Amino acid sequence: MKLFRYFSIVLQNFQLFYVLAKAYTSTPRYAHSAALIGNKLYILGGDNNSTSAQFIPTKDFFYLDISVGFNTSNIPWTDLSSVVGTPKQSRAAVSAGGPNKDIIFLFGGGVENPNSDIPLVYTFDTLKNVWDTPTILGIKPPRREYIKSVTDNTGKMYIFGGSYNIETGNSTWTFENRMDILDTIGLTWSKGSQIQAPTPRDAFSATLLPNGIIAYIGGYVDTGPTNLREIYLYDTKNDVWEIMTTVGTIPEARAHHTSVLGLNNDRIIIYGGFSVNQKSPIVHDLSVLDIRNNPYEWFIPNISGITPPIPSRHTANIVGRYMIVTYGFIFSQEYANPSMYILDIGDDSDYKWVKSFDPNSLLVSNPNPNSNSSPNKNEHSISTGIMISVIIGISLASILIIIFALMVYRWYKKRKYAHAIPTHGNSKL
Ligand SMILES: *[C@@H]1O[C@H](CO)[C@@H](O)[C@H](O)[C@H]1NC(C)=O
Ligand SMILES: *[C@@H]1O[C@H](CO)[C@@H](O)[C@H](O)[C@H]1NC(C)=O
Ligand SMILES: *[C@@H]1O[C@H](CO)[C@@H](O)[C@H](O)[C@H]1NC(C)=O
Ligand SMILES: *[C@@H]1O[C@H](CO)[C@@H](O)[C@H](O)[C@H]1NC(C)=O
Ligand SMILES: *[C@@H]1O[C@H](CO)[C@@H](O)[C@H](O)[C@H]1NC(C)=O
Repeated sequence: MKLFRYFSIVLQNFQLFYVLAKAYTSTPRYAHSAALIGNKLYILGGDNNSTSAQFIPTKDFFYLDISVGFNTSNIPWTDLSSVVGTPKQSRAAVSAGGPNKDIIFLFGGGVENPNSDIPLVYTFDTLKNVWDTPTILGIKPPRREYIKSVTDNTGKMYIFGGSYNIETGNSTWTFENRMDILDTIGLTWSKGSQIQAPTPRDAFSATLLPNGIIAYIGGYVDTGPTNLREIYLYDTKNDVWEIMTTVGTIPEARAHHTSVLGLNNDRIIIYGGFSVNQKSPIVHDLSVLDIRNNPYEWFIPNISGITPPIPSRHTANIVGRYMIVTYGFIFSQEYANPSMYILDIGDDSDYKWVKSFDPNSLLVSNPNPNSNSSPNKNEHSISTGIMISVIIGISLASILIIIFALMVYRWYKKRKYAHAIPTHGNSKL
């Protein structure tokens, strides 16, 4: 009995140690999704062909613990793809939902052999580490791909536009401009207004502003990447669309870019994507839209550090004082990006491309209400010092316990006691 107890302690410590010590090496990808919940940045699916031509969705699913510092040369990802029910998909819309905004909602996207039996919505409970396919009341909307969604503070997930293609079960490539609203708490579907909505499109960016307005920027319409002079504002409180003609240095037309809300809620930062000529790197890859006055005004920020190759179909999330960009396709050089870029946006007058992430930046209060950023991340922050001590402590304890247990075990074995040794099983949390 005693021996068994030693073994389970060893096992638990070993699993913890294993998870902490063993980093997962991810493959290059694009058209994946990212969700920041608590201290974890989750990455879901994506295409991983080395050329952009072929649709190869993945069931990759992994996260990064952002309470610990890291360098972009060695990102300590933790693999979750062995969790039962992980969907194989790409080009989906992902947002945090549920009563505590700790459930990942994944809508639509492209799948292999699409048919009506494949669930349209998947959820991943980040506390229980469980995938589910919830029953949602109301009229089920059609599957689309290349969509961006946001969730407001009442748990409603706004899913606009997208496109139909082979990967969604349609025979031709066409665009959509409907607004579907998924109540992630009540689990019901409803439809938003289409009056004055943007023309049908996919690959736009969507940013929730503090006043409940979603700003839709750019995207791919049936003639190609669309201009950024006109942006579309959807008022979630009144279900009304408004078109705004912006001023300032209007960036080049684009699609497959990202947008995030700046740290002071007074600007939208757009990044990457491609323009009419897909092969040439987009001009003004990083631009800022000042949203303090009506009309909003575009400008080019000061940027220092080493400019990385410009991605499209990447993701961008605000984490502490950084904009974290993952993967993407580099059309100008025809390859899938294997890495992460970090833009330090802590100083409004000097954005910096950096190589390392400082978790202490999470302690700086960030009133950002964007669904992509976590409302409670500050409470969860642990200083690096404590974290390192904990890791060293656990590692030392594990090693000592393993050595001790091995000694006890050998002693038992010598005495020819037959004991069942529990198997290690999988290492997921
Ligand atoms: C990627 O797509 C190209 C073009 O369709 C194809 O020739 C190649 O075999 C694919 N590569 C992989 C690794 O699947
Ligand atoms: C694509 O991902 C799968 C795992 O999901 C992996 O086995 C394969 O090697 C990857 N292909 C490329 C080209 O990275
Ligand atoms: C990242 O690299 C820098 C220098 O290259 C080093 O000072 C720092 O300790 C590294 N951080 C981590 C978390 O590895
Ligand atoms: C695409 O297919 C779905 C059903 O899978 C259907 O509801 C929708 O109308 C189709 N859209 C187009 C544009 O054909
Ligand atoms: C760029 O930096 C200069 C010098 O620090 C500063 O005067 C200027 O306001 C900055 N421009 C922007 C757009 O932040």
